[in-house]
Amino acid sequence: MKLLFEETKLGNMKLKNRFVRSATWENMATEEGLLTDPLIKIYEDLAKSDVGLIITGYANVLQEEKPNPGMMGIYSDKFVNEYQKLTNLVHEYGSKIIMQIAYGGTKTTYQTEERIIYAPSEIPERSTHTVGKAMTKEEIVIVENAFADAAKRIQEAGFDGVEIHGAHTYLINQFLSPYYNKRTDEYGGSLDNRMRFLNEIYGKIRKQVGQDFTIVIKLTSSEFFDGGLTFDDTRQICKKMEQIGVDAIEFFGLSRPLLAEPDLIKRWKEGVRKKAICLSCSKCRTNDGNYCTIFKKG
Ligand SMILES: Cc1cc2nc3c(=O)[nH]c(=O)nc-3n(C[C@H](O)[C@H](O)[C@H](O)COP(=O)(O)O)c2cc1C
Ligand code: SF4
Repeated sequence: MKLLFEETKLGNMKLKNRFVRSATWENMATEEGLLTDPLIKIYEDLAKSDVGLIITGYANVLQEEKPNPGMMGIYSDKFVNEYQKLTNLVHEYGSKIIMQIAYGGTKTTYQTEERIIYAPSEIPERSTHTVGKAMTKEEIVIVENAFADAAKRIQEAGFDGVEIHGAHTYLINQFLSPYYNKRTDEYGGSLDNRMRFLNEIYGKIRKQVGQDFTIVIKLTSSEFFDGGLTFDDTRQICKKMEQIGVDAIEFFGLSRPLLAEPDLIKRWKEGVRKKAICLSCSKCRTNDGNYCTIFKKG
């Protein structure tokens, strides 16, 4: 526990401790993806309570690509001023904040009739059964550039870094997965080919933000089903990510425990070391926002 409270460095970020709030979609942004008072309060509470690094809920890089309601947006320059409020606030308390960016894809049932949803191949997603459009090379470039433009805005808004969402069956994860990626071009087949989309996104982001900006990637360790991404594949992906200069790969972080107790880290720091009260029951997603319905009312 002592080590967890020690300062550390992650990329170029100096963190006051090693506790990371992993990305948590709050379902509290406006329809456009702008901040609201309840959303700002969540980040203020986390920063106030000594969380060393806060990763925002996933933000969409293309306006039309919104896998869930109430997500933060980062698809246009109008968000730069908006998020300066948030980054200044978090920095006032000595915490660091990075923004997670994602292209959701077929792991959604949200407004699926009203938009084109991209996928590596036309394979129904296992839980939503949504089928996407197999992307052309031009569409791949559009999405890659959207990630890179979003990262530039994130840097301009004063965030300490950016996290690429490569997990949870979202689009990047689907490109990596032999189950979802059945392409026969240079983006499918071998692991090197399946990694190409992620590599290109990383390369374009790095070009936009420079060497000193922290880039983190969140990966699924294994898909845990026949024909899916295995732990061995992920080990290879991690090695490659390290070689190309990714600053960190997310293994674990704290999401639900901090919904149940936003002041958990402060409590532990002050010596009240009983374990987190969160029951891991996942009853924290509601239509009125994602909050702990057991211990903390929204
Ligand atoms: C309400 C809710 C929203 C989440 N939103 C995101 C998200 O936006 N991006 C992401 O990568 N993971 C998201 N997650 C997953 C968490 O970051 C985390 O990986 C997962 O909940 C396991 O950690 P935990 O046991 O500490 O909750 C979310 C989880 C919950 C409960
Ligand atoms: S609803 Fe359940 S899983 Fe979610 S934060 Fe509360 S106790 Fe934890």
